Amino acid sequence: MCGIIGILGAGPAAPRLVEALKRLEYRGYDSAGVATLDDSGALTRRRASGKIRNLEAELDAAPLSGPAGIGHTRWATHGAPTTANAHPHATDKVAIVHNGIIENFRALREELIAGGRKFESETDSEVIAHLISAEMDKGLSPEQATASAVRRLEGAFAIACIFSGHDDLMIGARKGSPLVVGLGDGEVFIGSDAIAVSPFTTRVVYLDEGDIAVLTRAGIKVTDAHERLAARPVHVFSGGVAAAEKGNHRHFMQKEIYEQPETTGRTIARYVNAFEERVEMPDLDGVDLAADSAIVIGCGTAHYAGRVAEYWLEQYGGISVETDIASEFRYRRPAFGKKAFSVFVSQSGETADTLAALRYCKEQNLKTLAVVNVPESSIWREADARLPTLAGPEIGVASTKAFTAQLSSLAALAIAVGRAKGALSTQEEGRLVRALMETPRLIADALTVEPEIEAIAHELAQARDVLYLGRGVHYPIALEGALKLKEISYIHAEGYAAGELKHGPIALIDEHTPVVVVAPHDALFEKTLSNMQEVAARGGKLVVITDAVGAVACADIAKHIIMIPACDPFVAPLVYSVPIQLLAYLTAVHKGTDVDQPRNLAKSVTVE
Ligand code: M6R
Repeated sequence: MCGIIGILGAGPAAPRLVEALKRLEYRGYDSAGVATLDDSGALTRRRASGKIRNLEAELDAAPLSGPAGIGHTRWATHGAPTTANAHPHATDKVAIVHNGIIENFRALREELIAGGRKFESETDSEVIAHLISAEMDKGLSPEQATASAVRRLEGAFAIACIFSGHDDLMIGARKGSPLVVGLGDGEVFIGSDAIAVSPFTTRVVYLDEGDIAVLTRAGIKVTDAHERLAARPVHVFSGGVAAAEKGNHRHFMQKEIYEQPETTGRTIARYVNAFEERVEMPDLDGVDLAADSAIVIGCGTAHYAGRVAEYWLEQYGGISVETDIASEFRYRRPAFGKKAFSVFVSQSGETADTLAALRYCKEQNLKTLAVVNVPESSIWREADARLPTLAGPEIGVASTKAFTAQLSSLAALAIAVGRAKGALSTQEEGRLVRALMETPRLIADALTVEPEIEAIAHELAQARDVLYLGRGVHYPIALEGALKLKEISYIHAEGYAAGELKHGPIALIDEHTPVVVVAPHDALFEKTLSNMQEVAARGGKLVVITDAVGAVACADIAKHIIMIPACDPFVAPLVYSVPIQLLAYLTAVHKGTDVDQPRNLAKSVTVE
């Protein structure tokens, strides 16, 4: 989604704004722009459609001066990704950048046009600049005018503004979209997340819903949703600049795939007492793990992590589970059992539909548990309790290490529920905990299959359609594999439950259609083997991901076998995530797509 950076600094702002915008590229965007206050106090801006290098070319041709400025990467919602629609939007008095959607923009725009204001873009955002200007024309100060304009905005937004003739002033406001203030030495910053300000400072203040922050180089003043002065704590952001560097890797996605032994290890260690071989949950603030049922909600990859958790919570936890996609759940008025809790899975913690689903559950007095990667994000803060995933900042748009970290936290939750429900004995808990503790090593072993996958990926890159099959807990892994492939290679892919094949999808099988099967040699392997035979009999090209025993069993029908270390069935979804990620990644590299910023996708979907 869109990214915001603002700087009230000491040196020239424009190069630093561009540097910060590059850190925000991972969020997905299709145009970019910056505005600064020049030495005479006038607002000047440069904007470009496409990549940030296009903006840099504009700035090289016509540099911007001044130590104060704002910058933006735009992911188009209202209006095409043209230069005219790129932010900042400006009048002679104010320049603004905006994330989110202003729902009542049409009415506001008509009113402002009727008042004589001229619009240059098709965006909803431009009304903000005109509203603030109109208020300033009535004699209000920038601070009063911004507060007054914000009161009239409906929808979700985070904004940052600078004002002509005010070289020591920047104002930020949030409602529904996150906004962070960075505190430097004699400098202040504003960003859509902590990564935006991380090149300049590690001291950050997360603004709350409804906050307006007035920044000067001397510090910040925050007023809350009720227009009262508010104190917000200063946090130290530990993600740091290093987290946003690729190191020796070609892409962030590759780096993040290879970080998984560490990120799963860190997450598992958070919930496991290795000496006592038991799970230890943090304070869950009234979430009763001995409930009868649970609802698990997320979008995209986070939803698939929830689907794996459904199997775990039922099998090991002994409770009934319903999973849903947040965008469906929030509008279907679901009914809940009396003894239930809800779980919200999200990397960013800002996904609009997941957040709305959480708010719905809270209104129904259901306890809410957030499995979230970004600390202090909206879902993190609004949930009753949280199970952090410790993946660190994930930059690649295609989620990898966040997925396995989500699985790590959810696996621990399933064990904790099993204990609370009396569904697991101490011995069984010990076995599952030992299996969890082995997982980072198994993931490291699974990463060594990259050279074998490389050759298969070369072939997959020629395909037009790819099917992914899995059974039981590996059905969601098949869904995730198909999502990964289509996201970054743009090859059409579908995931199916292997047993569903003969009910329709088998019609798609021919000699041109690779079929990737996630099939560890577990209790369901023989059933999946039958489905593989059905594919082979119709000329389908089988790519089987399995272990040594499974490899022997399907050697005569598989075109390719990707061999993964044998592991406890409980943790197999974590280990089998690695080859499906590598397969998608290497296929996309062969195709030469923009792996880290695939077309049309945003890292964090903060609009409905
Ligand atoms: O930040 P979230 O985990 O809530 O995001 C949910 C989805 O938008 C996300 O998982 C998306 O599907 C990824 N691009 C998958 O790789």
